[in-house]
Amino acid sequence: MQAKSLILLLVLVMCGTTFSFGKVNKKSAPWEKDEKMEKFVNDLLAKMTLEEKLGQLTLFSSSWDITGPITNNNYVEDVKKGKVGAIFNAYSADFTYRLQKENIENTRLGIPLLFGYDVIHGHWTTFPIPLAESCSWDLEWIEKSARIAAIEATSEGLHWTFAPMVDIARDPRWGRIAEGAGEDIYLGCEIAKARVNGFQGDDLSKNNTMLACAKHYAAYGVAQAGRDYSTVDISNRELWGTYMPPFKAALNAGVATFMTSFNELDGTPCTGNDYLLDDVLRKKWGFDGFVVTDYTSIMEMTEHGNVKDKKEAGEVAINAGVDMDMQSGIFNDYLPKSVEEGKVLESRIDQAVIQILKMKYRLGLFEDPFRYSNVKRAKKTLMKPEFIEASRELAKRSIVLLKNENQVLPLNKDIKKLALIGPYVKNRRDLVGTWSGAGKWEKAVTVYEGIEKAVSKNTEILYAEGSKLFGDDKSGFEKAIATAEKADAVVLLVGEPHDWSGEAASRTNLELPGVQPELVKEIVKTGKPVIMVMMNGRPLTIDWEAENVPAIVEAWHLGVQAGPAIADVLFGDYNPSAKLTVTFPRSVGQIPIYYNMKHTGRPMDPNQKFTSKYLDSPNTPLYPFGYGLSYTKFDYSNIQLDKTSMGVNGQITVKVTVTNSGKYDGEEVVQLYIQDLVGSVTRPVKELKHFEKLFIAKGESKVIEFKITAEDLAFYRKDMSYGVEAGDFKIFVGTNSVDVKEASFRLTQSSILPEK
Ligand code: BGC
Repeated sequence: MQAKSLILLLVLVMCGTTFSFGKVNKKSAPWEKDEKMEKFVNDLLAKMTLEEKLGQLTLFSSSWDITGPITNNNYVEDVKKGKVGAIFNAYSADFTYRLQKENIENTRLGIPLLFGYDVIHGHWTTFPIPLAESCSWDLEWIEKSARIAAIEATSEGLHWTFAPMVDIARDPRWGRIAEGAGEDIYLGCEIAKARVNGFQGDDLSKNNTMLACAKHYAAYGVAQAGRDYSTVDISNRELWGTYMPPFKAALNAGVATFMTSFNELDGTPCTGNDYLLDDVLRKKWGFDGFVVTDYTSIMEMTEHGNVKDKKEAGEVAINAGVDMDMQSGIFNDYLPKSVEEGKVLESRIDQAVIQILKMKYRLGLFEDPFRYSNVKRAKKTLMKPEFIEASRELAKRSIVLLKNENQVLPLNKDIKKLALIGPYVKNRRDLVGTWSGAGKWEKAVTVYEGIEKAVSKNTEILYAEGSKLFGDDKSGFEKAIATAEKADAVVLLVGEPHDWSGEAASRTNLELPGVQPELVKEIVKTGKPVIMVMMNGRPLTIDWEAENVPAIVEAWHLGVQAGPAIADVLFGDYNPSAKLTVTFPRSVGQIPIYYNMKHTGRPMDPNQKFTSKYLDSPNTPLYPFGYGLSYTKFDYSNIQLDKTSMGVNGQITVKVTVTNSGKYDGEEVVQLYIQDLVGSVTRPVKELKHFEKLFIAKGESKVIEFKITAEDLAFYRKDMSYGVEAGDFKIFVGTNSVDVKEASFRLTQSSILPEK
């Protein structure tokens, strides 16, 4: 090989470009017609009793990890009786093998069990929490992370992940904001596709691909007051314009399953919502997979109060379009009577069974029910060095640099005395974040270990814990202050515990927990250069810190390689490139705050009292959507449009020059937003429509090109038809949603367009 090609290959390997675990998707949905499968499934169905059919519609948890009431302690006995079609919260090649064996050997028809689990951001090898990953804006790496998670999880016998969560989330009080891709619709759709493709790979019949699940259908992220499981009440326009698109994107990518959400929508709980499940999902969208409920959400309809008892709950759910009952056991217990009374047709149950059997068939389980559970494969696969390396790669790409006064960062590796202070310095447990049930947090590398490895031999590391993550104990302050005083610079590692975000982890106060805000103040008072690194699962309110701490790094919960990834960024081995995918409010009182809001009839004017504003706070966020600094500087110039008007079938090319005028090579996320100036209904102040993440060497300029078509301008119009309206538009291109260059164009025709 010539020297030049060798270098190129090395660069590609270093950039991860040669990473290949299979190309995307084509032997999964929309599935080609498979007559052999249809015949197989129909023949099998013909042999099944009603009880056996209901068993296939039943999903029970093992007694491992649970997130709600245990409703069945006898799941193994029920498996043997054919009353269970799927099990979740159970993994390991050995365990899944044994349970499958009990099932095959003891049931009349030997229909294989399906094993599901929340593989949310990695399996053994944890990756950054999904919100953090989204900040990388790196679709290729996000897909790889899901692919690796699937490779690991399937080696432990799992066939199905309850991911991705595609709920748009705009309320940081809601702990589950950590599990999604942030507040934006366009980015949310792109990331939904990437994750589905990663989990499902190119062919579901391979034993390293798994069913994905678009959840929580629908609008779960709009829980009132950010309180988990709370009521959702939004307009139909808001539902279709903001919350449905990522579900449709997941469906377009071929997602195999959907999960209903806990919340009600317009007065009907989503688990019994025939509009969502039947009218939209099956009939309008033509979904050809199966629908599972969320944990006991059929049963919970009795609490919502739209049904009088469990029996009616089961009837409402199955008739609405639910195929599989997670954990309520209601289908098994009550539907035989409902069928007898004619309240549920057996043909509806047959439809649900068919959808589930088809998925088991596509996974190859009828050929070999044990093909995923392979102890040897698991041993060779789990936490392979290349997976751990991939986790580090995505972790450093997910770290957002929020502030860097006087270029405190990057730190010099030869720094003489570096103080590491805070409850996160030696913390291992919390690094992996929420939903990391199978994740080996014990193998996570702490920040202390990461930094110790990065610095030169001449550096002395000083350490003080300062405080715990929560609680009111300040006894560590004195030592922490004394430690800071001896150092040349301080890295202050603070944040939320791993279980303060995720499910059932809503907060009303979004400051750093416990006495950490006071610890930060004390350390800043020493006058030393302080770099605050935060590890948390949601935007926090850090108004004081933003004003007073010289440098701030949002590291989120990064997974098993948090320590090395943070060191990579702090010492400049990696120049940070991530951008916020969720707005940081100044205070809880500003919530909900997101970039693509509407104008109102009285837009904010600081000199006019009767305009839309606060008496005690600016309207602007602390850090806007799309924001994130680099060690270098990117200048935007020459925004140019090849024409200033187009018809419905036309296209406008937007060009912009981005120059790296700073001292480091770096990657930039170039963002393009559009504003529709006048609509038949009011339109957002701007909406992300395209972006490109690219590398620009120092001193280099690159011209970035985007193509605008009518598709980018479509929305649900006054009469809810989807299409475009002739008129004037603005284009904004920039480094975040606020710092942008502007141009305008005109669309000359209105038209209905096919929905995406
Ligand atoms: C969560 C789901 C999860 C399920 C199974 C529920 O409590 O809302 O997101 O997939 O539990 O663990």
